[in-house]
Formats: sequence, structure tokens, C-alpha cells
Amino acid sequence: MVAGPLATTVGPLALQNPVLAASGTFGYGDAFGSFFPLDILGGFVTKTLFAAPRDGNPAPRIVETSAGMLNSIGLANVGWGAFVRDKAPAVNAARGSARLIVNIAGNAPEEYQALAAAVEADRAAAGCDAIEVNVSCPNVREGGTHIGCDLTAFRAVVRGVRAETTLPVFVKLSPNVADVVPFAACAADEGADGVSLINTLYGMRIDTRTGRPVLGTGSGGLSGPAILPVGIHWVYRVRAALPDLPILAIGGIVTWRDALEYLMAGAQAIQVGTAAFVNPHAAPEILAGLARYCATRGTTIAALSGAAHRSAPGAGQPAEPPVWTG
Ligand SMILES: Cc1cc2nc3c(=O)[nH]c(=O)nc-3n(C[C@H](O)[C@H](O)[C@H](O)COP(=O)(O)O)c2cc1C
Repeated sequence: MVAGPLATTVGPLALQNPVLAASGTFGYGDAFGSFFPLDILGGFVTKTLFAAPRDGNPAPRIVETSAGMLNSIGLANVGWGAFVRDKAPAVNAARGSARLIVNIAGNAPEEYQALAAAVEADRAAAGCDAIEVNVSCPNVREGGTHIGCDLTAFRAVVRGVRAETTLPVFVKLSPNVADVVPFAACAADEGADGVSLINTLYGMRIDTRTGRPVLGTGSGGLSGPAILPVGIHWVYRVRAALPDLPILAIGGIVTWRDALEYLMAGAQAIQVGTAAFVNPHAAPEILAGLARYCATRGTTIAALSGAAHRSAPGAGQPAEPPVWTG
């Protein structure tokens, strides 16, 4: 049982506080132990795990941008079996009440389903509290279209994962679509317990000395402060359209005020990603800032979630987005 002003629930998942570490930026929960104790976080999400290990993409795999970074890691990971055997025991010994969310993916909907079945079978050994489903992967059997951008494949993935597990399931949405809301609605329809948003945005940089893209794969995923307003936009829109669907918000959070914006936009909890590469103490500092804010204002995280929908001009949530730009 978790209680107090910082406690929050994301659907069936109770958290001691709303600050989690985002997938791919925190190893398997084992990467930041020399900076702060794992057990102070609300939780953390593992690097995306496939059933089998993967090497990932050719180098260079990261490049800085003026307000963030591009990565094309290519979902390099140790594979599910090695995670359970080699990583989970130490992480579970260190995490206290912080929640362990395993992020999973596959090359086709059937691979996701099979891995979800393995997670369910190993859930005690893995010690995991929930699954986050990364749909930002190519559907290899269908010619490589991104699953997170194709509603048919997306539905098949969520349905398959849901069929195999009673763990809480959060589907991590891609922002690389015209409208994120139908994907969130589909996740809810298929029985997901909530959504995580956003993953990275497509981007590219060119090396002007060679005239070639900097990244080994050409394009990559943009993260960091540049994407904060994009994430807030989609969290707000998803909360407006689907007020009962729990949201884990991600994208460009650097300060506790950024986190507060996401909570007010409609999230129940937030994840910190790229900021940790600049400041390894980012997550605990964000947590301390939120704690001070709640204490000073005499409020709670639960009360703050969705505040922008209740107090903003335009509260009452227009069914259609207005015209914003010139
Ligand atoms: C180097 C790097 C690796 C990432 N790897 C994963 C991953 O394996 N699975 C995943 O779902 N998201 C991955 N992400 C996306 C983050 O979890 C997050 O959604 C995104 O970076 C936006 O948040 P941020 O701006 O706070 O970093 C990765 C991001 C970065 C920067």
C-alpha cells in the first residue's frame, strides 16, 4: 500500500511517487546505481527486450542536436532469458517499492505475443510489476512498416499481448502519426491498462564535411527538450478524448516543472529519459521538486493530474482540435 501526497496510481499499478526512468535510458535498472538508490523512484522501465539478444544498428548511433539528441540504437538488448537470469536478481534486490516495468518488442505481432507469454511464465523470477509494449519497431513480416504507425498491426500486437498476461499492460505510443488518439483508443479497446507517450520523433542530421547523414542508419529518433511541447500536446489530447485511460507521460522532461506540465496535461506519472544523460541526478531532482511543490501548495499528485482540463480557457475540451497556426 502506498500513500502520501506523492503516491499515484496508473490504472492497476500503484506507485510510491510519479517519477520513473524511461526505457533505453536506464539500462535494465542497473545503470544508475552509483548515482542514487533505485528504491527512491516510483519505478523504472527496462531497455526494450526481445525474446533473443540483438546487436542493434551500425555506428554512429547517437548525435546531439541543439535541444536534444538523435539515436538509432536499433533496440540492442540482452534478450529476455538473459534479463531474467543475469539482471533481474540484483535489480530486484535493490529496488524496494520502486516498480519494475519490462518493455518488450518483437519483429511481428506473433513475436510480441510469444514474448508476453514468456514474461507471464517467468513473472515471479523476473519480479516484474507491469509490461510496457514498444510498438516503435518495424513489422518485419509485413515489409517493415512501423507497427506503431499501422493501426491493424498495432491492434494485433495489443490483442496478442493482452491475451497472454494478467500483468498491467501499457502500450507506448509513437508520435510519428497524424493523430495519436486513435492508437490510444485502440489500445484501450484491446484491454490495455494505459498508454505511455511519447516515443521519439523521426529525425536526421547531415555531416556537412561528407555530405552524408551522421547516423549509421541515416535517420533516428529525436528526444530531449525539443520534444516536450509535442509530448504535452499528445498527452493533453489523449486525456481529453479518453479521460479514463491512464497515462505515463514521456518526452523532453528536464525539470520538475516539465513533469508538472505533463501531470496537469493529464498524466498520472512521468518518465525521465534523455535528461539523465546530461544530469544523472535528473530523476531524483525532479522528484524533490515535485515533493516541494506539493508540500508548499498543500496538494497531491493525484489532484494535479489533469488540472489543465479543469482550469484552462477551453476547459470542456473541444471535440476537434482548433486551428492553431497561421
Ligand atoms: C538512447 C535512447 C534509447 C532509447 N531506447 C528505447 C527503447 O529501447 N525502448 C523504448 O520504448 N524507448 C526507447 N527510447 C525512448 C525513450 O524511452 C523516450 O520515450 C524518448 O527518449 C522521449 O523521452 P526523453 O525526451 O525524456 O528522452 C530511447 C531513447 C533514447 C534517447
